[in-house]
Order: sequence, then C-alpha cells, then structure tokens
Amino acid sequence: MRIGTLHIRTPVLLAPMAAVTDLPFRTICEEFGVGLTITEFLSAHALSAGDQKTVDKMTPSLNGTRFGVQIFGREDEPMARAARMAVAIGASLVDINMGCPAKRVVAGECGSALMREPKLAQHIVRNVVAAVPDHIPVTVKHRAGWDQVHRNAPEFACAMVEAGAKMITVHGRTRTQGFSGRSDLGIIRRVREAVPAGIPVVGNGDVVDVEGYLRMRETTGCDAVMIGRGAQGNPWLFQRLRHVLRGTSDPGPASLEQRIAVFRRHTSLILELKSGPRLIHEVRKACAWYAKGLHRCNQFRQKIWQITDSDAVIDAAEEYFSHLVERRSKNRAA
Ligand SMILES: Cc1cc2nc3c(=O)[nH]c(=O)nc-3n(C[C@H](O)[C@H](O)[C@H](O)COP(=O)(O)O)c2cc1C
Repeated sequence: MRIGTLHIRTPVLLAPMAAVTDLPFRTICEEFGVGLTITEFLSAHALSAGDQKTVDKMTPSLNGTRFGVQIFGREDEPMARAARMAVAIGASLVDINMGCPAKRVVAGECGSALMREPKLAQHIVRNVVAAVPDHIPVTVKHRAGWDQVHRNAPEFACAMVEAGAKMITVHGRTRTQGFSGRSDLGIIRRVREAVPAGIPVVGNGDVVDVEGYLRMRETTGCDAVMIGRGAQGNPWLFQRLRHVLRGTSDPGPASLEQRIAVFRRHTSLILELKSGPRLIHEVRKACAWYAKGLHRCNQFRQKIWQITDSDAVIDAAEEYFSHLVERRSKNRAA
C-alpha cells in the first residue's frame, strides 16, 4: 500500500489508542509484523507548549522502524509546530485525529467535532501539509459522522483529500455511538467508493481476528485495516495476518509458551522504557493481557492488582504461568 511516498508492505495498521499504544506495545506489534504503528493522539497545544508528559509520549519506534504520530487540535500555529516536532523525531507520517468522541476533546471543538466543520477541518489539513516536508504524508482518521442524522464520512473524506490528506482511516461508528453498536462496514464502503483511487482508505472497527480482517477488506473494498482493541494482548494477530496475506499457512492462535515469551518480552520493554508512578500499572496491565482467557485468570488478575512492586508482579506472573505449564503436563500425562 502506498501512502503518498510511503510504502507499507503489510496492509494492517495498529490503531492509535491513548494509554495503550505506547512504545513497548508498538514495539511488540512491530515484532509481530504490523504494517505501521501510530502513537496515541497528542495535543498539539500541549506539544507546542513543551508539556513534558505529552512530549514524552511522542516516541520514535526502536531500531529506526517507521511510525506515525497522531496529533489533535484546531489552532494553526500549535498544529504546525506539533507536526514539525513529529517530523523532527523521525515520524514517517502525521495523522490528524478527527474522530475522538471524548467530551473534553469535543468541548474544545477538536477530534470528532471537526466533522461538523468540514471547512475548518480542510484548513487544518492544509496548514499541517504546508508545515511538513513534501515527502511526509499527512493523513486523517475520522468517524462515520457526528450522529445517525449526520453520517457525512464520504463527503468529509473527499474534502480532506482535496485539502491534501494522503490516507483516510474511517472508524464506522458515529461520535454519539461512542463504542456502542457495531462499526458500519457500509459507510466505510461508501468512503472507499467516494475517495479518489490512489488515496488509500483504511477500514477500522471491531476487527479482532483473521476472518474479521478479510470481511472488512472484502465488504468495503478498503485498502488496509486498522486494528485496535483486538490487538491488546493479541499481537499474534499481526503475524497470522501477514501469513494469510502472503498466502502461507496461518500459524493459528498463540501457544502457552508463546504467550509466556511475549509476556516476558513486553514486561522487559516496559521496565526498560518506562518509569514513574504508572509503571506498576503498566506491568500489571501487560501481565493481565497475556493471562486473558487462561485457567483462573480472574484470580490472577485480582492477585496482581494488590501487589505494589513491579518485580513482585512479574514474579507472580511467572509463578502463575509455570503452574499452567505444569497443569497442562499433568493433564497430558493423565
Ligand atoms: C483505550 C482507547 C484509546 C483510544 N485512543 C485513540 C487515540 O488516541 N486516537 C484515535 O484516533 N483513536 C483512539 N481510539 C479509537 C481507536 O483508534 C479505534 O478507532 C477504535 O477502538 C475502533 O477500533 P477497534 O474496534 O479495532 O478497537 C481509542 C480507542 C480505545 C479503546
């Protein structure tokens, strides 16, 4: 898939997710073959004001792997400055968030609120395009529309492309739906039909497995799929998709040993790359992700939520996983 001058080998993107798609998780997904990762949305205003917490979230991928930075805002100078900051740290594209439904974002007339102001949204895209070098694609992620009555995604996407956007991602829910209901494949198809060929349209919403990926591509004609919640604790999905898309056999769901290996890799990245009061929370979250659906995972989750030291959480996870390995050996022997 081509996004302007950028070539993406595997048409699968990791969705930007606040407090989820941090550097450790993006790295794990890259190691499992995702086509491109994008940072969580970052306030242009905060970035341009030098807010350290926000600047720290704008992290380049490890080992020079390509990545995108997502920004949100509506003021010219902060948006231009934030986009240039993204380019300065090596971002391969700058994505503009026009889909966030959160009250605090919409109250500032940013995120999905911009779908009600296509002229201003176009101005924002033009401003960011002018701020970055020609070879850096500026892209837009938006929703189906504001509400059931205003499902303007096809016209809105075309307006963004006219203003210079080089890729459109559509989450097939409206702002008022939030995360309820289902992502509407019909509106994603209409966006694909409306947007000029040569500009990739990425379908997003509710894809959690290989079948869902193929359904999204076939039903909507979209060029790639963006996956968010379905990748949490399940980065193997990217590996499976890569195999399926290359016509080699699907390696299937992760084995217990693979889960243990990724839990170790993920927690070691967290310990290496993160610090501060949220560290313990990040470690607990990663441990819980890889235990999901396994024997007595709820008890395990409750246990680690009471532990207040990161290393002790990891020890508890090691113990939990080794019991599962033992239990499986006994079951096999019986
Ligand atoms: C916890 C969480 C945080 C999110 N943060 C962002 C964000 O920062 N930027 C954005 O464009 N979308 C954000 N989203 C929306 C996702 O990118 C995606 O559009 C949505 O989850 C639907 O895709 P999925 O069904 O594959 O998860 C977030 C979603 C979740 C669940």
